[in-house]
Amino acid sequence: MSRLPPVTITVYAYECDAYGHLNEAMYLQVFERARWETIARGPGMELFRQRDIWPAVRKASVDYFRPVFPGDVLEISTEMVKLGKTSMELHHRALRPADGQLVAEATLLFVMIDGSGNPAKVPDELAALFGARVSTRSGEVVRYDVNGVSLAVDVRGDGPALLFLHGFPFNRTIWKHQLSALSGWRRIAPDLRGFGESDAPEGGYSMATYADDCAQLLDRLRLGKAVVVGLSMGGYIAFEMLRRHPDRIAGLILCDTKAEPDSAEGAKGRDETAAIARTKGAAAIAERMIPVVMGRTTLQTQPQLVQQVREMITKTPVAGIVGALEAMKTRADSTDLLRTITVPTLVVVGREDGMIPPAQARAMASAIPAATLTTIEGAGHVPPLEAPTAVSRVFSEFLEAVRDG
Ligand code: MLT
Repeated sequence: MSRLPPVTITVYAYECDAYGHLNEAMYLQVFERARWETIARGPGMELFRQRDIWPAVRKASVDYFRPVFPGDVLEISTEMVKLGKTSMELHHRALRPADGQLVAEATLLFVMIDGSGNPAKVPDELAALFGARVSTRSGEVVRYDVNGVSLAVDVRGDGPALLFLHGFPFNRTIWKHQLSALSGWRRIAPDLRGFGESDAPEGGYSMATYADDCAQLLDRLRLGKAVVVGLSMGGYIAFEMLRRHPDRIAGLILCDTKAEPDSAEGAKGRDETAAIARTKGAAAIAERMIPVVMGRTTLQTQPQLVQQVREMITKTPVAGIVGALEAMKTRADSTDLLRTITVPTLVVVGREDGMIPPAQARAMASAIPAATLTTIEGAGHVPPLEAPTAVSRVFSEFLEAVRDG
């Protein structure tokens, strides 16, 4: 966990009201003092003068929980919860160490403006101070505005970047074990648009859109390149990133994915699945997919995991399901792309994957110069969840070699 250390603030008598406790307006000032002190520890105030920009507060909300008195010492922590191109949202928590009480919390939305009052880009230094340190506890969400949608993203740790792209119809939690295990890397796992807790617009889904979302997410995090880890549909997106944003890819881990486009029959199946999603909802999609995506061993021995995946699919917005089906149906053929891949590549497949069988993964790996293939025993189409320890170990060995190479 690499949160910004809290700032310690003492409450003065002049900040308190007639009843002797910190008044509401002054609370905002206390948070402001903490914010400036945090910025002073980083790039400092000069940054704004030099660039002729200013962070203007557009919205502030404060929750007051406990009265605070002159002489009280507060520890104020600041965390970036949302980073857009020209805006950012900060969350403050004020804790009184003397009694361990959380006394107030505030969320502030800032827009960066230039000397003429026009929106300006959030400086990289500020994003690095707050954003680059954003770390989330398991399950905690940070939101990033990209490409017209707000994505829920898990960002953990420091080091070279690893971008995890989930498959269909899952969400970022399929990577939960690898997000915990792969320390020494900056692990970034978004819910793709239409999935998990990200926005799910009604239309506009394509591999190009997902790939651009991912490139913009790297921009928001001020990251140049990442090793992209894509499972199934996540792999299709990785191929699209190779076409559209090749300079952002430092390496590839392709799990249970394929380069071929949909056949005519496959495309028809997409339309049928979309019709079921529209008429019967995501629960019907879960019932159809569970026997296909989970390996035989998982179905027999891990009923809790099967139930978790069922719930994950059931919670997926129908707009996201229908959008992804359309995006997969219209995706490009990536078979010719394979021989042009020059970044280090690992291909992983579950021995019991019925959707993309090991033979197909082997053929894909052999078409990529210098790719290696690992088969995961006892796993189907979602090895990161079905055989988490084996998958984390295989990823870790590959990543250490990438880092050393
Ligand atoms: C996935 O797991 O992402 C999908 O099942 C892939 C597909 O349907 O082609």
